[in-house]
Amino acid sequence: MRIDVHFTPLGLNSGDAAGRGVVVIDVLRATTTIITALANGAKAVIPAATSEEAVRLASNLEKDRVLLAGERKSLKIEGFALGNSPGEMTPEVVGGKTVVLATTNGTPALVAAQGGDPVLVGAPANFKALVERARQALSERGELLIVCAGRERQFALEDAYTAGRLVKAVRRGMRKVDMYEAAAAALALVPLHETWSDAFKGTAAARQLVEANLGDDVTFAGKQDRFGTVPQYAERRIT
Ligand code: MLT
Repeated sequence: MRIDVHFTPLGLNSGDAAGRGVVVIDVLRATTTIITALANGAKAVIPAATSEEAVRLASNLEKDRVLLAGERKSLKIEGFALGNSPGEMTPEVVGGKTVVLATTNGTPALVAAQGGDPVLVGAPANFKALVERARQALSERGELLIVCAGRERQFALEDAYTAGRLVKAVRRGMRKVDMYEAAAAALALVPLHETWSDAFKGTAAARQLVEANLGDDVTFAGKQDRFGTVPQYAERRIT
C-alpha cells in the first residue's frame, strides 16, 4: 500500500486518479466550505472549473433549488448568490439546495481529480471522519492520492500541512504503508506547527483573506472535527 501527495493538481493527468482512492484538500477555503454546506443540509455541491461553467451548470437545474456560489480573489463573484465562506453555508440558506460552486483553486482541483474511486473532500473540519474513510479507501485500492489545491498553481502550506497530518494519521495503526517522496515531504511539515491555526496564520492565502475582511474564515478552517461527514465526489456531484 502506498500514499502519494500532489502539492498542486497541475501534474495530474487525466486517468491518473483512476482506480486510486483520492482526497482533495483546499483548506482555505473551498473544501472547508463544501463540507460545511453538506453538513448543513445542502442536497449536493457541484464544483465548476470556471464561473462561466458554474452559470451553465446552474441553468440546467431548477431555479429555486439551486444556489450559485464562488469567489475571485476571495470576493463573491458578481451576480452569484453566495461567496466561498463556510459561514455563509447555514442550514437556512443551503438546506435542500444544490450549490454550484466556482473557486480559484479548489473546485478546479476537484474537477481534475475526477475518476478517483472514491474522491473524498477533506479539511480539518472533518478530519477524524476523513482519516477513517481515507484508511478504508487505501485498504481497498492499495493507493491513496492526496491532491492539494495549492494557490494559483503554486505550493500552498495550509494544504500541504493538512496533507502531512493526513499521511501521519492514516499510517498510524496500519501495517505497512509506503510513501512516495512527496508524501514524505508533506509528513516532514507536521512537526513544524503545533496547531492548524499556527500552520495557517502566516500563509499567503490567510493573509489575502484577512485583507479582504474574511479572517473569520481562517479561524473557522482551523477548528478540527466540526463535522463528521466526508463528502464524496462522483458523477459530477459532491454529496
Ligand atoms: C480557492 O478555491 O481558490 C479558495 O478556496 C480561495 C478562497 O476562497 O479564498
